Parts: sequence; structure tokens; C-alpha cells
Amino acid sequence: MAQFRLPANSIVKKGKEYMLADGAKETVTFEIYRYDPEHDNTPRLDTFVLERKDCGSMILDAIITIKDKVDSSLTFRRSCREGICGSCSMNINGTNTLACIKNIDEYKKKKIKIYPLPHMPVIKDLVTDLSLFYAQYASVKPWLESQTAQSAHHERLQSKEDRAQLDGLEECILCACCSTSCPSYWWNSDRYLGPAALLQAYRWIVDSRDETMGERLDALEDTFKLYRCHTIMNCTKTCPKDLNPAKAIAEIKKLMISRKM
Ligand code: SF4
Ligand code: F3S
Ligand code: FES
Repeated sequence: MAQFRLPANSIVKKGKEYMLADGAKETVTFEIYRYDPEHDNTPRLDTFVLERKDCGSMILDAIITIKDKVDSSLTFRRSCREGICGSCSMNINGTNTLACIKNIDEYKKKKIKIYPLPHMPVIKDLVTDLSLFYAQYASVKPWLESQTAQSAHHERLQSKEDRAQLDGLEECILCACCSTSCPSYWWNSDRYLGPAALLQAYRWIVDSRDETMGERLDALEDTFKLYRCHTIMNCTKTCPKDLNPAKAIAEIKKLMISRKM
């Protein structure tokens, strides 16, 4: 029988243990992925046992506490702590989400496993390289394209109905939780744009002020860029802003068909 093994540098080893809750009534255990390619041959999982009352409310609070009080080398992104900037996306107990809006008490098992976003190159610890993700976003031209000159007296106006077309799209914060949960994106991220970029593409396709719907659709008419979405739905399930990238992709596919009829 064929045996498959991970390359040695992909095996996550047991790391250091920090017991910081001696005699505490209630504790929370965090297992956090650590990897510094400049110094480590392999990643490791460090364990931090904290007293519940020292952790704060949200997972991000606990990570900040660990960095402040236990190991200042722990590396992660964060900014707004309000679920708005998209910086603190990571994988918590198997689901991509935003650490700043996940309450510690939601995790009943009290052992919280924290990994970087999956299938992305790790720069250090919980920080992944999102260069390709942002390049894909830029490739859909996420800005208004119009030949019509703008009035000197007012902005480009939309009806309420036209503006409503953007609901559920313009709220995307580009956290990358959806794209990095998508198996099609895992295997073909070099050519498949992924749910986040496609949701953004659709946001501009349906913007009534934009005049380049045809060109935008032409740019997506490609076996990989769009059609590598196989409706797996992980993207919609994981989106921490409750958006529906799978639906946006389906709408683009419908437009592709309808313009051929
Ligand atoms: Fe994040 Fe949701 Fe936007 Fe995807 S659609 S990037 S999960 S906010
Ligand atoms: Fe992937 Fe979502 Fe399509 S998980 S395959 S982008 S429906
Ligand atoms: Fe901004 Fe979490 S810190 S979304």
C-alpha cells in the first residue's frame, strides 16, 4: 500500500508550554502555531494556559495578552479590533474567522487552537503572505470605470434600487477568510481568482454607475479565473461578515450565460 508522508519541514512539532494559571479556578488553553522561517526548520505548536479572567473577552484580547505578558515574539496582524479592517483573520479551531470578534466563551472545549489562514505561505507565526490575494483583487479593477463625464454639480447618483444592488457586496473587508477556505483556491490559487476577488468583481459589475460590464465579464471568461468555482460553499459558510461570495459567483456565471443568449 502506498504511504504518503509530509515533507519534514511541514510537520508541526510540539513546542513550548507556558503554565500561567497555577491554582486558578477557570483556565483557558491556547495552542498557537509558531513558525519563523529565518530561525526554525519546522513549525511548532506552543501551549499557553491562562487564567480565564486574564484573557479578556475576545480571542484577539488573549493573543495580545500572551504577546504582552508571555512571549513578545508572537507575531500576528490586527488593527481595528472591531471586525472592520480584516487584519486579524486566522484559523481558530478549524474555521477561518476574525480573532477580534470571536468571544473566547464561544469555544466550550476551552482548548483553542490557533493557526494562520490555511494554504498560504507563512511569513511568521500567524502572519501569511497575502501578496497574491491582493494582486488578484487589483486584477478585477476594483474602481469605477466610466466614459461619461461627471457633473460639476453633484456626484454620480444612484437610485435607491441601484444602490441596493451593492448590499451584501460592499461590506466585504478583504479578510481572505473565504478564499483561504476554498479547496479550489488551495489547489489553483495561481490561476483561480477565488471567492473574495470574484465577489469584488461582481460588486463593480452590478454598480449602475460603471459602464464596463462587458469588459469586466470578458476578463473573467476563463476556465480558471471564474469557472474553477465548483460551488463548494466553504466561502459563504466561513465569511465572518455573513456575506455570500458563492452567490456572487453564481450571479456572474448567470450573466455570462444570459449575454450569450
Ligand atoms: Fe472576508 Fe467575507 Fe470579504 Fe471573503 S467575502 S474577504 S470572508 S469579508
Ligand atoms: Fe470555493 Fe466558494 Fe466556489 S468554497 S468552490 S468559491 S462556492
Ligand atoms: Fe480589524 Fe480584527 S482587528 S478585523
